[in-house]
Amino acid sequence: MNKFRWTLLITTFSTLAMANGEELYKNCAGCHGDNGQKKALQQSAPIGGQASDTTIKQLTAYKNGELNQYGLGNIMKMQLLTLTEENIRDLANYIAKLKP
Ligand code: HEC
Repeated sequence: MNKFRWTLLITTFSTLAMANGEELYKNCAGCHGDNGQKKALQQSAPIGGQASDTTIKQLTAYKNGELNQYGLGNIMKMQLLTLTEENIRDLANYIAKLKP
């Protein structure tokens, strides 16, 4: 494959990942706000614009029941039970682009 086709392929994939992150985030917006600007249930830090590495670490830890920052970790665990590692990555990339 030539360089142009690779670029096209990669662009398509990242656009799909973006759309997927946006779709998945609809389940989070109720608590965290459309732009990640809210403190979920008056507790969490606003997550919009947070570095994707941090978000991936936190979400993975919530999923595994290893993070409980304000005593509400179980609520986040419930949100993540059905999400795959790839879903978590897509979400983290989407959240990093939000401007609270
Ligand atoms: C029912 C409300 C609710 C929903 C829906 C929800 N969250 Fe949360 N989220 C919380 C609460 C409460 C906390 C704080 C948990 C704790 O005690 O550590 C939190 C914490 C977080 C944090 C860590 C923030 C910090 O303070 O460091 C991230 C990142 C996060 N949520 C992302 C998400 C994502 C992504 C989704 C969607 C898949 C989601 N949340 C859905 C309530 C919610």
